[in-house]
Amino acid sequence: MSWEGRNIISIDEFSKEDFYRVLKNSEKMIDLLDKGTPLNVLQGKLMSSLFFEPSTRTRLSFHAAMKRLGGKIIGFSDPRTSSRKKGETTSDTIKMASAYSDVIVIRHPNPGAAKLAAESAEVPVINGGDGSNQHPTQTLLDLVTIQQERPPSSSDSNIDGCKVAFVGDLKYGRTVHSLCTALKNFDTSFKFIAPEELEMPKKYKEGTDYEETNELELSDADVVYVTRIQKERFPRPSEYERLKGTYVINENVMNELKDDAIVMHPLPRINEIKSTVDSDPRAVYFKQAFYGVPTRMALLAMVTGALEEGELI
Ligand code: NCD
Repeated sequence: MSWEGRNIISIDEFSKEDFYRVLKNSEKMIDLLDKGTPLNVLQGKLMSSLFFEPSTRTRLSFHAAMKRLGGKIIGFSDPRTSSRKKGETTSDTIKMASAYSDVIVIRHPNPGAAKLAAESAEVPVINGGDGSNQHPTQTLLDLVTIQQERPPSSSDSNIDGCKVAFVGDLKYGRTVHSLCTALKNFDTSFKFIAPEELEMPKKYKEGTDYEETNELELSDADVVYVTRIQKERFPRPSEYERLKGTYVINENVMNELKDDAIVMHPLPRINEIKSTVDSDPRAVYFKQAFYGVPTRMALLAMVTGALEEGELI
């Protein structure tokens, strides 16, 4: 199936073949970045970057990806500087961006906003996070990270055979919702570690091989995926205050981990991983953030059809 014109809204829309295609194309982009080979396949193209919610990595890595491919960017990172402030609907903003550019990246606080945006746009829409719902491109770079950082396996991917422990805010964390959904396509098992109030919603657990606990017990995990308690999604601030700091990854916790385990975090971290852990080779969260660039390069090239005739698949 051609990827040209495709929206990236929800990870449920991806088949196993889609995941492999993204993994392969991202790997090629990693190679090109490593070698410093310029790839100007998006020269003359414009990306609209519409961020209705704060972002550092998602926004910067999409911008870096577009520019690395020779394209240019329009947009805003603070909706208060757009006509949003005058009461314009998201749908009208999207129609404009669609007329002005070749691809749209949107981050929005409302679950479902990216899907609505895609209905108003004539160009591909990429979801950069919609409330507590989904964050599909984060998941794709998370899969690239596991593929690159886990030991080579005899299976089709280095993701197969992994036991993945999700730690922290599994209720409001959109990154874990998307990643858990994607990993159902691989031979993986899960451990959900969260305080009772922040447990993984049932729909993500269904059909998976999982354990659930509120103990930070990680000795059997191959991948530890740590998340921030999502302060902005709590109906009551007191509830956040009570739950923040429930789990902290420090050197003692690292001592319990397998030698070839990897510790991931979509970032930003607040206090859930001590900075003293950063120098441990198993702490791969900054490499993970780097993989956002090649993964998003692959996605931008694929949905704009820039590489239809090129060497990427
Ligand atoms: C995440 C997000 O925005 O959902 N950050 C990111 O995109 N790397 C995680 C978070 O904010 O906790």
